Amino acid sequence: MSPLLSEITPALRTFLDTSGAPTPFVVVDVDVVERLYRELCSVLPAARALFAVKANPAEPIIRRLAALGSGFDVASPAEIDLCLAAGAEPSVISYGNTIKKSADIAYAIERGVRTFTIDSPEELAKIAALTDEAEICVRLWHDCGGADWPLSRKFGTGPAQCERLIRSALAHGFTAGMSFHVGSQQRSPHAWDTPLRTVGAIRSSLRADGFDLSFVNLGGGFPGSYTDPVAPIADYGREISDSVARWVGTDMPLFMEPGRYLVADAGVLRAEVVLVSQRDIDERRWVYLDCGVFHGLAETLDEAIAYRVRASGGSGPLTSVVLAGPTCDSMDILYDKNDVRLPSDLSEGDHVEFLSAGAYTTTYSSVGFNGIAPLAEHYVNAD
Ligand SMILES: Cc1ncc(COP(=O)(O)O)c(C=O)c1O
Repeated sequence: MSPLLSEITPALRTFLDTSGAPTPFVVVDVDVVERLYRELCSVLPAARALFAVKANPAEPIIRRLAALGSGFDVASPAEIDLCLAAGAEPSVISYGNTIKKSADIAYAIERGVRTFTIDSPEELAKIAALTDEAEICVRLWHDCGGADWPLSRKFGTGPAQCERLIRSALAHGFTAGMSFHVGSQQRSPHAWDTPLRTVGAIRSSLRADGFDLSFVNLGGGFPGSYTDPVAPIADYGREISDSVARWVGTDMPLFMEPGRYLVADAGVLRAEVVLVSQRDIDERRWVYLDCGVFHGLAETLDEAIAYRVRASGGSGPLTSVVLAGPTCDSMDILYDKNDVRLPSDLSEGDHVEFLSAGAYTTTYSSVGFNGIAPLAEHYVNAD
């Protein structure tokens, strides 16, 4: 965790103290996004960053990152348009979703995007039917062990099929690289070693036949600062650089796709207490907020992401509570097993803040479940 960024910045504090904005909302400090971008690039200088837009597609963030020279990992035509409108060149936009409609691939090609991720021959065939000029990124499967928010099973394929796909892409006249994702909120800086070893073996096999990879994309997984501690980002940079040198070679162009790392610690989510109840079915108090699983806090499902939760109302001793959202859905429980402690005199109207909530909150909010409006968003230090 970056000590500088692990708490609420003065600009965020001023907003929280003075804006009077109705809850629930997320407020993001765009200067913090820039600091995190610079920090990550400095610990992994060999890798070009492609911000994973899905983590927070807000225009002030995309614009700031585009101005800093970041590229972008996008999942849809709408995200392509967002990046182009913010000044990004199509050549630095990578269409990283392995599941794309042909019409969406065509849309991307029309706008100059050339890099497409695939993990199946069927997806390669869709691209080959539309263009002769693509850069194909073949995604290697990873079990995502050590990650709090795994991305396994749905994406990637095994080493043998990866190599076959690369050879097919090259035979079609495309260039080809490889990617993998070690799982989001990856808590082991060593997690990149095994996939890089596999990438190195595939590279050697290709080179034996006079071919080569044109790049390796290290994916995302760099962590935000939640309750469970994480290693300093410099450890990630050092471990990954060592593994690249050991298995792949330092001559290989590298990309990375940070999402969470660049935006999580830049944001705070504020919710309001709707009800504190003591029912005879439970020894603990239940604290119900005006924001829950369906309004931005989806990553609390299975209690996967353990936000640091602070009350700004109440002054009594901290006691254990069950924290829940406001909807008529029993999935809408944020923390039951995780030990969240809030002041004993917390009551309706008090505020509760979720730190490091700048990633995967606004876009995970439903548009009107139970008639509740989507999570509001605000940006400070925006250009
Ligand atoms: C293809 C791809 N790249 C990068 C990311 C960003 O991952 P993270 O937020 O863990 O950095 C994701 C997240 O889902 C992804 O799907």
